Amino acid sequence: MMKTLVLDVKNLKKHFPLKGGKGIVRAVDDVSFQVYEGETFGIVGESGCGKSTLGRLILRLIKADHGEVVLDGIPVLSLSPGNLRKARKKMQMVFQDAMASLDARQKIGRIIAEPLKVHGIGTKGERLDTVRHLLKTVGLNPEAMDRYPHEFSGGQRQRICIARAIALNPRLVVADEPVSALDVSIQSQVLNLLVDLREKLSLSYVFISHDLAVVEHICTRIGVMYLAKLSKLPTLSIYTPIQRILILRHCCLPFPVRIHITGTKKGLFFREIFPIRPMYPQDAVSTRDAPI
Ligand SMILES: Nc1ncnc2c1ncn2[C@@H]1O[C@H](COP(=O)(O)OP(=O)(O)OP(=O)(O)O)[C@@H](O)[C@H]1O
Ligand SMILES: [Mg+2]
Repeated sequence: MMKTLVLDVKNLKKHFPLKGGKGIVRAVDDVSFQVYEGETFGIVGESGCGKSTLGRLILRLIKADHGEVVLDGIPVLSLSPGNLRKARKKMQMVFQDAMASLDARQKIGRIIAEPLKVHGIGTKGERLDTVRHLLKTVGLNPEAMDRYPHEFSGGQRQRICIARAIALNPRLVVADEPVSALDVSIQSQVLNLLVDLREKLSLSYVFISHDLAVVEHICTRIGVMYLAKLSKLPTLSIYTPIQRILILRHCCLPFPVRIHITGTKKGLFFREIFPIRPMYPQDAVSTRDAPI
């Protein structure tokens, strides 16, 4: 069966000027990748390597210096403001800090109904019905609509953010560290919800995280960001478990490492030596050929 392409990111670039004109920060440098329908494309990498900037560029929340973002055949970066507003229906973002992304003075019903209202969808009564349905979909009681964000737990608040994100039936959700602020026991509930919704609604995700266990749990393919560049791992399943750990650990350590893998027929031996020299994730992928 042919896979349907949902998101095509081509040669995306964003450099921030440093204050006082003293050079630039390369936040995202020539990044390209594709996301297909029903897929979760994970982006992992150390802090500051450009993951959040990449997410924001895709949704055009910040302006790219160069490159293309094509969502369902629509060239997002060259749309007029009016057409961009329409295209926003198809792509939503979920952030790490659910409390900060919900307006503390508004009731949940109003918060979730807002995107529907902005896009002129349904009457007030119909929107209320949709909100009730959305709350049930994310595992919350519809009565939640009459309460305020501070009256919920962190996990429940993230469910509210997810309900708002799926209100317009998007094609793509960019989730930037959506479970990092949650307790480990709650993390898996929210991750399972995301997986359920992906299947139910044929959603695609760009899932940004620095947590390898989380990424392994939810992602179908993974891109590793390192110093603003992205390397794609074709699929983690071609690697042995020990190789996966080494590749991912290597790519997400806050400093460069060189990995030595040696093997015998009887067992596995490996050692890591660090820090040695800057090394790109591409090199790490070559450990695939190491004799294990
Ligand atoms: N608005 C901005 N102005 C200047 N520099 C910025 C801006 N936004 C991000 N940067 C810089 O771009 C780089 C990438 O930042 P980004 O927030 O994308 O990293 P990240 O991978 O999401 O990190 P973390 O895992 O800590 O969230 C950093 O060096 C950051 O300081
Ligand atoms: Mg970030």
